[in-house]
Amino acid sequence: MHLPCPVLLRSMASSLACLLLITLLPTSSNAFCASFDCISGTGTTISYPFWHQTQHSEYCGYPGFNVTCHNQSSTLINLSNNLFRIRNVNYANNSLVIAFYDPKNSSCPRISHNFTLLNSSLFNYTTNNEMLHSFYNCTLYPPSHASIPCLQYNAKRSFAFPLRNTPEFDWNRYCESNVIVPAIQKAAGNYDFVRSIEEGFELTWQQPPEDAACASCEVTSGFCGFRTGGIDDNTTSFLCICSDGQHLAKCQDEGNVSTAFGPNYVAIGALIFGSLFVLATAFYLIQKRRCVTLYAPVSQH
Ligand SMILES: *[C@@H]1O[C@H](CO)[C@@H](O)[C@H](O)[C@H]1NC(C)=O
Ligand SMILES: *[C@@H]1O[C@H](CO)[C@@H](O)[C@H](O)[C@H]1NC(C)=O
Ligand SMILES: *[C@@H]1O[C@H](CO)[C@@H](O)[C@H](O)[C@H]1NC(C)=O
Ligand SMILES: *[C@@H]1O[C@H](CO)[C@@H](O)[C@H](O)[C@H]1NC(C)=O
Ligand SMILES: *[C@@H]1O[C@H](CO)[C@@H](O)[C@H](O)[C@H]1NC(C)=O
Ligand SMILES: *[C@@H]1O[C@H](CO)[C@@H](O)[C@H](O)[C@H]1NC(C)=O
Ligand SMILES: *[C@@H]1O[C@H](CO)[C@@H](O)[C@H](O)[C@H]1NC(C)=O
Ligand SMILES: *[C@@H]1O[C@H](CO)[C@@H](O)[C@H](O)[C@H]1NC(C)=O
Ligand SMILES: *[C@@H]1O[C@H](CO)[C@@H](O)[C@H](O)[C@H]1NC(C)=O
Ligand SMILES: *[C@@H]1O[C@H](CO)[C@@H](O)[C@H](O)[C@H]1NC(C)=O
Repeated sequence: MHLPCPVLLRSMASSLACLLLITLLPTSSNAFCASFDCISGTGTTISYPFWHQTQHSEYCGYPGFNVTCHNQSSTLINLSNNLFRIRNVNYANNSLVIAFYDPKNSSCPRISHNFTLLNSSLFNYTTNNEMLHSFYNCTLYPPSHASIPCLQYNAKRSFAFPLRNTPEFDWNRYCESNVIVPAIQKAAGNYDFVRSIEEGFELTWQQPPEDAACASCEVTSGFCGFRTGGIDDNTTSFLCICSDGQHLAKCQDEGNVSTAFGPNYVAIGALIFGSLFVLATAFYLIQKRRCVTLYAPVSQH
């Protein structure tokens, strides 16, 4: 029982090709800082200066702008040691809307600590936010204010007000705790605290001066990249990542191709794929000739 030689070899060659494609393609696209979407095509598109914590290289975006996907439903960013869900990114005006991340996805979010944009020289609040002051578990409270329905524990009530418009009352004395949280501005006087927390707040990010070249890089079909720690370890520099390697400003820059850091996966992939393809073809042709000579005497009789 013999499988026809050419058929066997042809399938071997094609499975080898398939295998190569499967192993090489993800590597090259990841190295390319390609944009992605955590929610299979329906969520926020994440791209430079944001980068994927595990699928991208560090140079694909700014430091601290690394995000992760969770449960194919949330895009998470870590700011000042808190995880936030990215709801929306506007790349045209450098702004994004994020919301406190609740891993339990409960219908009543509990914000138990104050959030400050610590150590974040790049992010800042925009003027579209309102600071809300919330008071939890108050045992005594003015009767005229609506409490937060899902935060009622027996006689204890919780409240939220715009910080600049908090009703006169000794809240600190009668409430167990209080926090100040940012929220996108809402119609004055009608705060649905839970919805405000879910909708999140808006931040803007600053473009570092090194980054001015991004637009001209993208025009030449490059992906913007950003590198920290140069030769003297204290510099940041812009990269334009193109199909032929990394350039200083845009893909057509002649003589400015830098390969000093980070391998060019596409070139390497193409090289390996190419050589293996040639080998497989040569092997196939040699085997085919051997098959022909083996079978030749049989077919003559
Ligand atoms: C993941 O998402 C599904 C629905 O999309 C939800 O039912 C499940 O609770 C989520 N799991 C976690 C750990 O958030
Ligand atoms: C981003 O990277 C830092 C440092 O490696 C890490 O601590 C942080 O958790 C990462 N952020 C996310 C959202 O994974
Ligand atoms: C956020 O990042 C810091 C380091 O930058 C890390 O220590 C911390 O565990 C991260 N927090 C979360 C919630 O992932
Ligand atoms: C950015 O643009 C979006 C969409 O036009 C808008 O909703 C948002 O308020 C803008 N943010 C800033 C800070 O300009
Ligand atoms: C979280 O809960 C809401 C409803 O409360 C639901 O629509 C949403 O899909 C849930 N998300 C996850 C990730 O479970
Ligand atoms: C903020 O930066 C300082 C030094 O620059 C560091 O000591 C401190 O731990 C940082 N805090 C956070 C929350 O990352
Ligand atoms: C953040 O914005 C506030 C006013 O909204 C401004 O006073 C402050 O200087 C800004 N910080 C940075 C780092 O841009
Ligand atoms: C309010 O009180 C309830 C019941 O005692 C407790 O479970 C909850 O954690 C308290 N909330 C806050 C924000 O202190
Ligand atoms: C949050 O900040 C407010 C105002 O500074 C303070 O009164 C309150 O105790 C803080 N809350 C917590 C939980 O630290
Ligand atoms: C980059 O290339 C330009 C010409 O295209 C040249 O003038 C410039 O000196 C080069 N820069 C570096 C750092 O090699």
